[in-house]
Amino acid sequence: MTGKVYIVGAGPGDPELMTVKAVKLIKRADVILYDKLVGEKIVEEIKKLGKKAIYVGKNSKERGMDRQREINEMMKKFALEGKIVVRLKGGDPFVFGRGGIEAEFLAKENIPFEIIPGVSSINSVPATAGIPLTHPNHSSSILVVAGRDDIEEWKKAPLKGTIVVLMGRDTLSSICDNLIKAGRDENTPVAVVENGTTPEQKVIVGTLRDIAEKAKGVKGPAIIVVGEVVKVRERLRNYNQ
Ligand SMILES: C[S@@+](CC[C@H](N)C(=O)[O-])C[C@H]1O[C@@H](n2cnc3c(N)ncnc32)[C@H](O)[C@@H]1O
Repeated sequence: MTGKVYIVGAGPGDPELMTVKAVKLIKRADVILYDKLVGEKIVEEIKKLGKKAIYVGKNSKERGMDRQREINEMMKKFALEGKIVVRLKGGDPFVFGRGGIEAEFLAKENIPFEIIPGVSSINSVPATAGIPLTHPNHSSSILVVAGRDDIEEWKKAPLKGTIVVLMGRDTLSSICDNLIKAGRDENTPVAVVENGTTPEQKVIVGTLRDIAEKAKGVKGPAIIVVGEVVKVRERLRNYNQ
C-alpha cells in the first residue's frame, strides 16, 4: 500500500511557532526529509523522538535541479514503501519553498500527499521584531520579492507577479477592471477563497474578466489571489481538497 507525503511548514525557527498539525504529523512520521532552514531546536526535538530524519537541504554550490530531482525521488521511494513521509520546510512550504514543484511531482506520480501550511517568515519575523507589515498611518500594501531579482522585476509585480488581496470581496469588480486597465492580461487566473481552511471553505476560480460575476454569491471572509500560480491548483486538486 502506498504511504503518504505531507509537505509541512516548520515555521520560522521557534519550535513553539510550529502548527499543532505539524507537530502531530512529525510524531506520526516514519521518515522526515528536512531543509536547511528548519530551526535547529526543531531538528533536535525530532532526533530526540528517535525519528529517521534525513537532511536534504541545498548548499549554494549544488545544482538546484539535480538536488530537487533527488528529493523528489526520495519522497516517491519512501511513499511507495508505504511510509508516512514528512517533507519539512522552513516557514510555509508554498512561499519561496519549492513546495509547489514537489506537490506537482507527487500529483503526477499518483502519490497521495497533503500540504500543511506553516507560519511564514514573511509576517512572523517582522512581527516578532515589533514591525507591523501594515499600519493605518503608514502602509496598506506589502510587496514580497526575491532578492535575486532586480528592481526592474519588482516594478513588474502588479502586472506579472502574484497579488493577494484581503478585504476585496465587495470591490472585486473594480479591482479586476482596474488591473486590466493598468495592463494586466484579462485572461489572468483569479481565485476567490472563502472561509479558507475551515470545513466551509469554497474556492471559486475564474479570470480577471469573469471572476466578479462568478463570485457574486460569496458572503464570508475571502482572499483573492491573482496570477498564474492559480493554475497550479488545477494540477493538484484531486489530491489536496
Ligand atoms: C528560501 S526562503 C524560504 C521562506 C520560507 N518558506 C518562509 O515561508 O518563510 C528563505 C529566506 O526566508 C527568510 N527567512 C526564513 N526564516 C527566517 C528567519 N527565522 N529569520 C529571518 N529570515 C528568515 C530569509 O530571507 C531566507 O533567506
